[in-house]
Amino acid sequence: MKIAITGKGGVGKTTLSGTLAFILSRTYKVFAIDADPDMNLASSMGIHTKITPISKMRDLIKDRTGAEPGSAFGEVFKINPKISDLPETMSVKVKDDDSLKLLVMGTVDKGGEGCICPASVLLKALMRNLILKKDEIIILDMEAGIEHLGRRTAEAVDVMVIVVEPGLKSLETAERIKKLAADIGVKNIVVVINKVSSASEGEFVTGKLKELNLEVLGSISRDDKVVLADMEGKTILDYPDSAALESIEKIAESLLNYHPRD
Ligand SMILES: Nc1ncnc2c1ncn2[C@@H]1O[C@H](COP(=O)(O)OP(=O)(O)OP(=O)(O)O)[C@@H](O)[C@H]1O
Ligand SMILES: [Mg+2]
Repeated sequence: MKIAITGKGGVGKTTLSGTLAFILSRTYKVFAIDADPDMNLASSMGIHTKITPISKMRDLIKDRTGAEPGSAFGEVFKINPKISDLPETMSVKVKDDDSLKLLVMGTVDKGGEGCICPASVLLKALMRNLILKKDEIIILDMEAGIEHLGRRTAEAVDVMVIVVEPGLKSLETAERIKKLAADIGVKNIVVVINKVSSASEGEFVTGKLKELNLEVLGSISRDDKVVLADMEGKTILDYPDSAALESIEKIAESLLNYHPRD
């Protein structure tokens, strides 16, 4: 299954992506991909060594797409670059048993409308052409907002998760994401509500999501342990009594039971 985590800035996409990746890697082989140019999935997964993003691997990009990173808009790219080896060869091991690997895409140079820069061409090809084995899962931590939808980097995912928080702003973004995602052919869209501090906040968001005809996969409470983990550079899994962790465990289960339409 290929899963993309999207939503407005700061709603908790990276926290959810990283935590889900760890949880799912207990039973699956997981590739976590940081597709946000302002990358921080690694640190959210407790990795603090410097990782070279794919966008900085000039030779690789030139070799696969036929274009230099940062090359001018309008240059000709190979639209089907070879990608099958990338998850294995270009990723960083997160767990020693190989069940969890991290791939950092890096900065996409803005090239104009519907940017077709080499790094995003590679990412798109990775999503579209990578054939996953039955026991493999990709989790894509997307850039905040809606711009990446113009680049269609997540068009071939099986499920798009939109993270929202109590308040209208992230719901407005969710509505836009829903529309644009449908436009590029994403058939399965679900919502995770994060940072819920009270029943009334939960009800508020759930009510709005119903109006938007968006399916709720689960919700996560606001939890100081998440903030603590972030301050200490750890993962939420280091806090077994975390309420957020408990909710994300349930969300992981719901995702595994989710049957995407093709
Ligand atoms: N359930 C939660 N309870 C408390 N704090 C949270 C929770 N989820 C996320 N946070 C905090 O909110 C902040 C943003 O989280 P995160 O980086 O995961 O969001 P994001 O959507 O990936 O942000 P960006 O749009 O910048 O990529 C972090 O400081 C994180 O610790
Ligand atoms: Mg993030």
